[in-house]
Amino acid sequence: MVVLITGGAGYIGSHTCVELLQAGYEIIVLDNYRNSHPESLKRVEQITGRGFKVYRGDLLDEKSIEKVFIENNIEAVIHFAGLKAVGESVQIPLMYYECNINGTIKLCNVMKKYNVKNLVFSSSATVYGVPERIPISEDAALEAQSPYGRTKQMIEEILRDLYVSDQEWSIALLRYFNPIGAHESGLIGEAPNGIPNNLMPYITQVAIGKLKVLNIFGNKYPTKDGTGVRDYIHVVDLAKGHLKALEKVSSATGVEAYNLGTGKGYSVLEIVEAFEKAANIKIPYRIVEPRKGDIAICYADPSKARRELGWTAEKEIEEMCMDSWRWQSRNPNGYVEDSIVLQ
Ligand code: NAD
Ligand code: UFG
Repeated sequence: MVVLITGGAGYIGSHTCVELLQAGYEIIVLDNYRNSHPESLKRVEQITGRGFKVYRGDLLDEKSIEKVFIENNIEAVIHFAGLKAVGESVQIPLMYYECNINGTIKLCNVMKKYNVKNLVFSSSATVYGVPERIPISEDAALEAQSPYGRTKQMIEEILRDLYVSDQEWSIALLRYFNPIGAHESGLIGEAPNGIPNNLMPYITQVAIGKLKVLNIFGNKYPTKDGTGVRDYIHVVDLAKGHLKALEKVSSATGVEAYNLGTGKGYSVLEIVEAFEKAANIKIPYRIVEPRKGDIAICYADPSKARRELGWTAEKEIEEMCMDSWRWQSRNPNGYVEDSIVLQ
């Protein structure tokens, strides 16, 4: 099967490319490298020993999407491409709405034109907003709290409307919890631009000495130790979830949302401790004011994905920390040239 991967050079996309290639799929990547580097795709080739076509193009340019469909016999699409920083989305909401929503509409227009109606979409647990019940199941109310989250929520609605209009579509909405970790090779991983917003890349940058101290955003939440609790999931488990979703959309029509999480919650302090143990490095931290918009506790009920996709996350927090650290320590500057440090 030939699968188009939008945003395939990014963090989750590159790991999914590896899993797809290893499972025998033919893949084609479309990415504008706005938040990634072509080197990640070279590393995907290195890991898998398989080549694939890459198009540099923007989803906002319908012609460049169309070129990919004209030149290839695409049968399904996994759609990662988009902007993802919650804080930035508050500063530049129009760009987020334009890129995420218009980009998806243009992609779907071209898919429809070329009669490709199997789609796996990257949604996010952020669509749940402040959850009423924990663990969160897919039927919880959707109340995204940021422009970024609202783009995901709106896209989910658009895709549901698309299915209502044409029941040949088959769409999986994958609501990711908190992806961390990296491929065990240490060749691909998360390479954020500038100072990381997310916990794990911040910790790993403190560990290599790029940042001095971890700021923990609040310790008065109603949680086991007062710090925020999240459902951290290994990015390779997450990538494998896409293969299961792809099998599902290839075998039945409809539109369904699935939580991709482990079902376990870890506090910030527990993550710090797990990382210190895995890397054998002390992480200096200080408690600062809570971050605006953060919630206390968020973890998944992943049972629908288990039941309907046959997928369960397998990797534990120790492995997530070890793999994050291997990636960061071997690539202190991410994909920037000469960044591999020989050990
Ligand atoms: P990422 O930024 O590493 O990857 C996104 C990729 O899309 C990048 O390679 C970027 O260059 C590309 N891209 C962005 N806009 C594009 C456009 N207009 N045209 C073509 N390419 C474009 O992000 P990621 O962490 O791999 O996330 C992938 C998807 O999963 C995103 O849609 C994100 O919103 C969603 N998601 C991520 C997380 C997370 O914590 N990483 C959590 C929930 C959901
Ligand atoms: N945290 C810190 N210090 C930091 C960074 C984070 O204490 O420097 C804390 C946060 O307060 C939170 C936890 O660590 O309690 C996790 O924070 P992240 O920023 O890593 O992740 P979030 O849960 O806030 O958000 C992430 C993605 C969103 C996505 C959401 C749900 O950034 O895009 O998971 O999938 F929507």
